[in-house]
Amino acid sequence: MIEFEDVTKRYPDGTVAVDKLSLQIPSGQITVFVGPSGCGKTTSLRMINRTIERTSGTISIDGDDVTSKDPVALRRGIGYVIQHAGLFPHKTVVDNVATVPKLLGWDKRKTRATAMELLERVGLDLKLAERYPAQLSGGQQQRVGVARALAADPAIMLMDEPFSAVDPIVRHQLQEELLRLQRDIGKTIVFVTHDIDEAIKLGDNVAVLRVGGKLAQFAPPAELLANPVDDFVRGFVGQDRGYRALTFVHPDELPIKPVPPDLVLDDDGVPVGWRADHEMLPLGAVFKQGDSLRAALDAVLTSPTGWGICVDDNGKAVGVVDQAIVAEALRS
Ligand SMILES: Nc1ncnc2c1ncn2[C@@H]1O[C@H](COP(=O)(O)OP(=O)(O)OP(=O)(O)O)[C@@H](O)[C@H]1O
Ligand SMILES: [Mg+2]
Repeated sequence: MIEFEDVTKRYPDGTVAVDKLSLQIPSGQITVFVGPSGCGKTTSLRMINRTIERTSGTISIDGDDVTSKDPVALRRGIGYVIQHAGLFPHKTVVDNVATVPKLLGWDKRKTRATAMELLERVGLDLKLAERYPAQLSGGQQQRVGVARALAADPAIMLMDEPFSAVDPIVRHQLQEELLRLQRDIGKTIVFVTHDIDEAIKLGDNVAVLRVGGKLAQFAPPAELLANPVDDFVRGFVGQDRGYRALTFVHPDELPIKPVPPDLVLDDDGVPVGWRADHEMLPLGAVFKQGDSLRAALDAVLTSPTGWGICVDDNGKAVGVVDQAIVAEALRS
């Protein structure tokens, strides 16, 4: 656990970036700091690895005050990922990932093998390993940044807006991969973003900060959406928080209706489109039994026919729902 107790950061010019922040970041989970620009997210994050020193209060990791440790040793146990990845431009991808293991004096073969394994884990094509960062896309660079931060197998990962500079589709992929990776590695991840959707998607717990570095609310995402503590948090989680909250509603089983004859299936029973008068209409989103109500509602809202398609694990159509079925599930 990482614990902030009454932590304040006042910069030399008098700016109070963080004001008496107290919270407990559980081990093995993703904790997200979210809030508007300038609210002290980066400052809070960097006080953990002491790349910024706090003015007062204590930050401890598993009970040990971080100021009692040698900063260099402290940082070796803490991975750090930033926007634009911050890769060394003159080193190849694999050498970037191997940076810390090399510093730790691991033997060459082990270092390289570890680096390649990590690149594979973060979903990077190994053909790119000998390239230089400038020869990669933004999303690929972020993957390398994550691999590099994981290289020394730190217990803690600090991530400061790591996915902010990539387009929405790549961002979505990187978020999914982080969640998948985290299921294997179970690190203590502190993740900074100003995007409430990203916070809700990734966080086991979310700390909403307001300008001046004051904690507004610290709660699991479902709780944040259901019970924002004040107008600031309510405004921040948005007007559409009701819709967002459906992410956390998992009906046991929706009463699906039979697949309508207008739904065109391929030989394996996988839907390909909707038959209309002279054309085929494209599919919208599909969902599976057990998915959230948000997924089911998405399927309904994006369908050209108003029927949201339910598929099985093989993508085979098993039935459909309409808005009324989703609304009924929401009431029960
Ligand atoms: N070195 C510094 N000297 C003086 N003030 C600073 C310094 N670094 C940051 N600040 C101020 O401290 C406050 C918090 O900054 P911080 O970078 O932690 O915010 P942030 O939440 O990460 O913002 P953003 O979302 O824009 O990255 C801001 O008002 C900022 O201007
Ligand atoms: Mg910042």
